[in-house]
Amino acid sequence: MPKVAITLRVNGDLHEVMVAPHRTLDEVLRDELGLIGTKVGCRTGDCGACTVLLDGKAVSSCLTLAVEAAGREILTIEGLAPGGEELHPLQRAFVEHGAVQCGYCTPGMILAARHLLDKNPTPTHEEIRRALSGNLCRCTGYAKIVDAIAAVAEKNRS
Ligand code: FES
Ligand code: FES
Repeated sequence: MPKVAITLRVNGDLHEVMVAPHRTLDEVLRDELGLIGTKVGCRTGDCGACTVLLDGKAVSSCLTLAVEAAGREILTIEGLAPGGEELHPLQRAFVEHGAVQCGYCTPGMILAARHLLDKNPTPTHEEIRRALSGNLCRCTGYAKIVDAIAAVAEKNRS
């Protein structure tokens, strides 16, 4: 299939890539740009592992064509704490609350949480649970993840 040239803006950096029109954003992020922090689970939009922010909105990158993302603002887990020197408050909270076990769901969870906190800096536990309803975790039982996000919300409150 003929490829098309697109420009992806990922974590503030511009990347010119040649992609087949059917290739999804998760594939291009991982295979072409080497950004393997975005995880791939179901590839059917059910697990949330591949969540990235597209123009600030949480999307399943496995259901998003790379060509649809051209020219838009993409944030992956690698861009959350620029420079990689310091953890983002959400990343720190996940570590401190034991919300990371195997870690497979973690990038998607954290980006879904970032989307929530951008819209609502002080969500309730119920609002956090609702915002994470599209992200599956097979390890933690969710309580520690909710606690971690609630801790960031609590800091935002004070
Ligand atoms: S891999 Fe995209 S939602 Fe599961
Ligand atoms: S920490 Fe293992 S799937 Fe969530």
